[in-house]
Amino acid sequence: MLIDRFQRQVTYLRISVTDRCDLRCVYCMSENMKFLPRASLLSLEEIIQVGRCFVDLGVTKIRITGGEPLHRRDILKVFRELGELEDLRDLTLTTNGTQLTRFAADLRSAGVTRINISLDTLRPERFRALTRNGRLEQVLAGIDAAQRAGFDRIKLNAVVLKNRNHDEVAALVAHAIERGVDISFIEEMPLGHVGEHDRAECYYSSDEIRADLAEHFELLPTAESTGGPSRYFRIPGVDTRVGFISPHSHNFCDTCNRVRLTSEGRLLLCLGQEHSVDLRRVVRANPGDDAALKQAIVDSMAIKPQGHDFDITAQPVIFRHMNHTGG
Ligand code: GTP
Ligand code: 5AD
Ligand code: SF4
Repeated sequence: MLIDRFQRQVTYLRISVTDRCDLRCVYCMSENMKFLPRASLLSLEEIIQVGRCFVDLGVTKIRITGGEPLHRRDILKVFRELGELEDLRDLTLTTNGTQLTRFAADLRSAGVTRINISLDTLRPERFRALTRNGRLEQVLAGIDAAQRAGFDRIKLNAVVLKNRNHDEVAALVAHAIERGVDISFIEEMPLGHVGEHDRAECYYSSDEIRADLAEHFELLPTAESTGGPSRYFRIPGVDTRVGFISPHSHNFCDTCNRVRLTSEGRLLLCLGQEHSVDLRRVVRANPGDDAALKQAIVDSMAIKPQGHDFDITAQPVIFRHMNHTGG
């Protein structure tokens, strides 16, 4: 039965609420990225309806992503309404941090438990280059604001590119320790054409990062999991966990518990495959009808694939950029 498979396998929904962003990270977007017309996005009410149906079906964790989610107008409404769902245990956010000075306290009171903030470098010039004109200062102030707001946990996410920021991994861990937050290092995934660099040349594996870190820190493997694909290590004597997300070197599809909703309402069954179901069509054809929507969600399990097949040496096979998919 598909409903059994759904409830056994899917516990975690990631929702992208916009493809727009104030930054243009070189691994995420091309220089002249075209954004979706606003009319094609799910409305805030539709996003809330889809989230509610997933929770009714047994999903206990929702992560809001983008683009930059805090750029969607009135987005706090989504956090507030999802935050009220009793069976939702974990409401989390992935953000680039630039708007957190404005939003951190309200997010916390809306019921957001954990926040992941992208931070690839601690050098202002490098930050400007990697994000095509972002201001590091603004993000560091955002992280400060998030720490003051008192989330259960904050995690920094660094995408590591060879010859761009790979020499900073130990400094980033030291920074995370100083702040008392977690950090994950992410291998770049070949999602969409980005134009700026050759992905095979810039590939820097989690194992290489771990070897670099071992020169400065003792890393003890743990069995901890947040339900995500990170493998976590602890450093004796400090609170910080160091995670590695390694879609190339360690394929984690067999334990994948998640599905994604794009900002246009497409339900993606795997990050590395094109299989998807158009939930926007279902929502709009059956206004206010949760039963029809839940049926479509459960039926989507029939096409959830077993795994992906990323190959950084070939042309991308997935033409969606990460800001469309939801980071
Ligand atoms: P938690 O599960 O809450 O710890 O979060 P997470 O680490 O899954 O979420 P986060 O938003 O921090 O994800 C960081 C990055 O990991 C994403 O931006 C992606 O690059 C990558 N990632 C997350 N989920 C998947 C997945 O299902 N498959 C693959 N290949 N990569 C993923
Ligand atoms: N590969 C891996 N991660 C990516 N992100 C964006 N583009 C890519 C990519 N090509 C992730 C980063 C960022 C989040 C929003 O999306 O982790 O922190
Ligand atoms: Fe924006 Fe995040 Fe993409 Fe960077 S990775 S351009 S911050 S959506």
